[in-house]
Amino acid sequence: MTRHFRTLLDLSSAELATILSRAHALKAGRGRAHLGEAQPRPLAGKSVAIVLEKASTRTRVSFEVGVFELGGLPVTLIAKDTQLGRGEPIEDTARMLSGYTHAIVYRTFGQERVETLAKHARVPVINGLSDQFHPCQLLADLQAVGEAFDRRGGDFSGLRAAWIGDGNNMAHSWINAAALTGLEVVLACPDGYRPSEAVVDNARRLGAKVRVVKDPAEASDGAHVVTTDVWASMGQEEEARDRQRAFEGYLVDAALMARAQKDAIFLHCLPAHRGEEVAADVIDGPQSRVWDEAENRLHAQKALLEWIVSQ
Ligand code: CP
Ligand code: NVA
Repeated sequence: MTRHFRTLLDLSSAELATILSRAHALKAGRGRAHLGEAQPRPLAGKSVAIVLEKASTRTRVSFEVGVFELGGLPVTLIAKDTQLGRGEPIEDTARMLSGYTHAIVYRTFGQERVETLAKHARVPVINGLSDQFHPCQLLADLQAVGEAFDRRGGDFSGLRAAWIGDGNNMAHSWINAAALTGLEVVLACPDGYRPSEAVVDNARRLGAKVRVVKDPAEASDGAHVVTTDVWASMGQEEEARDRQRAFEGYLVDAALMARAQKDAIFLHCLPAHRGEEVAADVIDGPQSRVWDEAENRLHAQKALLEWIVSQ
């Protein structure tokens, strides 16, 4: 059966746990590939299209390298250089790419574009970021949480994450993660920038412990993970000034980190703006796990690809 990864909620808790465990194993075993030890090649003879309608560094490189390491061929399409970018319908792009490739990674604007691609594709579609969700990033982030707190099985009950800032695509994916892992998520967002109520309600219906507050200190108190993201996401460049005003007081600095648990970690999907949403001494300090987090994109997506092509 063709499975898609449009949001984290395309997975059950058990499937997410399986993928995270595999991601940990792949990370532990990766160095051995260079010592000549045989590695599994589940994508041998297969190819994966990576279609990008927005800029990307991590997503592109981690998927290209990941597909290569699994024995497959990555084919990256910068949408503006393709017929999709000249108006060819998503439906036709889905049908055509399904004839060549074995999975499609898609970075786009509205989530409905991901849904349309998935509806018309005969191969798995993986959301490589939309305006509403960034589920691949959450696989990497949850792997980082598992590493930090020795929870490699995917059950994070008893742990709490504080999201500081914009109720954006990353915030929505943390909320979905709460529904699947037992992780409690408390989001501190200014008025007008709270996460979608539909996303929060849906996650709560699935059992997620999620709270939305206004005060960053309240969210950070006792948290095990403190995380944030840019104030103006891709496509919101023109709002950057207004957003800087709206997010005043939402900087993650040492004082905010000091409210969290002593062994709390700081995460950021990157790219980051030092001095805007996060202070340099936090992102570059001892509690920061952002480089593991970024590296985990590779391991977690390899685990996802391996799983999704075998369904
Ligand atoms: N975090 C992330 O998705 O980075 P890129 O935009 O560089 O892919
Ligand atoms: N919220 C950010 C995440 C970038 C990886 C954006 O959508 O631009």
